Amino acid sequence: MSYLSRIKRLMEALRGDGLSGALIRSPANIFYFTGYRGSGFLLVPMDGLPTLYVSPLNFELAEESTPGEIQVIKLEQGLNILRIFELIPENLRTRIGFDSMEAEDYLKISGQLAGSMIPISQNIWKLRIVKDELEIEKIRRACEISSRCMELASELLGEGLMEYEVKSEILREMLSLGGDGPAFDPIVASGPNSSKPHGAYKNRMIEMGDVVVIDLGVVYEGYCSDITRTFYLGSRSEEVSRVHQAVSEAKRRAEEAIKVGVKASDAYRVAHEHLASAGYAEYFLHGLGHGVGIEIHEPPKLFKDSDEILVEGMIITVEPGVYFPGKFGVRIEDTVLIKRDGIERLTSAPQGLALD
Ligand code: GLY
Ligand code: MN
Ligand code: MN
Repeated sequence: MSYLSRIKRLMEALRGDGLSGALIRSPANIFYFTGYRGSGFLLVPMDGLPTLYVSPLNFELAEESTPGEIQVIKLEQGLNILRIFELIPENLRTRIGFDSMEAEDYLKISGQLAGSMIPISQNIWKLRIVKDELEIEKIRRACEISSRCMELASELLGEGLMEYEVKSEILREMLSLGGDGPAFDPIVASGPNSSKPHGAYKNRMIEMGDVVVIDLGVVYEGYCSDITRTFYLGSRSEEVSRVHQAVSEAKRRAEEAIKVGVKASDAYRVAHEHLASAGYAEYFLHGLGHGVGIEIHEPPKLFKDSDEILVEGMIITVEPGVYFPGKFGVRIEDTVLIKRDGIERLTSAPQGLALD
């Protein structure tokens, strides 16, 4: 879908609200509607062509990444919301939609605005939550690169490396395969570090007998992927195998339950019930998953109290995990596309655990 047709869909959705236009500030939303990745303000009149305001240092980039119909204006005085409001034509100031704003800015401008400001983030999420073909292809490639990085990382685990050394190989690999960079700081959490879902600050030497949780994501042409595997170094541990098996089965059951029309909270419940039956309910510390797109964490949330319904074209993670403080943790995560008849897994590295 073209950037202009995305803008058009938003404005159609907002038409009934009596808005004169929309002011979009979140870089992720600006990228979604224009193709430009950077900071700025996008002003969209209800009827008329959009204008993108950027600082001089981003002007060339903004001009070359946006369609010709979007006017790009260089703001010599800096990207200041007060300045933007001076530039907004009088007729657009009556009832304007906005996506995000710091409280201080809001207080500064609300006094200057003749009309009202209406939050429109939820209207934007309604569009972004379902991925179009172009977005799916980019996320598919991000997922392929991250799967390859995971395979490489697993091959390095037996080599007596520090966590940061594995991490740096992951980063090198994703860049060499054409990724823009990491979607988040990769997590390589070994031994007792693995019981903290996002790892510890202190690097460890990875040793025999360690559980190692590796969680990584790649950005490819502006779109993210997310994958986690849990490995075990050494001869088999009954305890770790039992936990890994329970997490893997919780994931399998949740993936089987994920279908068009299912509530996100019901997918969470399926995984939770299985982990509870194995005696691990209190160690399942987070939701089942989240949407993935321009941002690594997007709606829908697959949590206990989510009210979203899963629909075709959403891309989400499925990532049950259990964590035993001071001992070890196990998480398995894939990024999946919701299709009419179930899911397609977009990440594909082997499921983990045995590294004997
Ligand atoms: N790395 C964070 C997550 O998996 O959501
Ligand atoms: Mn992850
Ligand atoms: Mn995730």
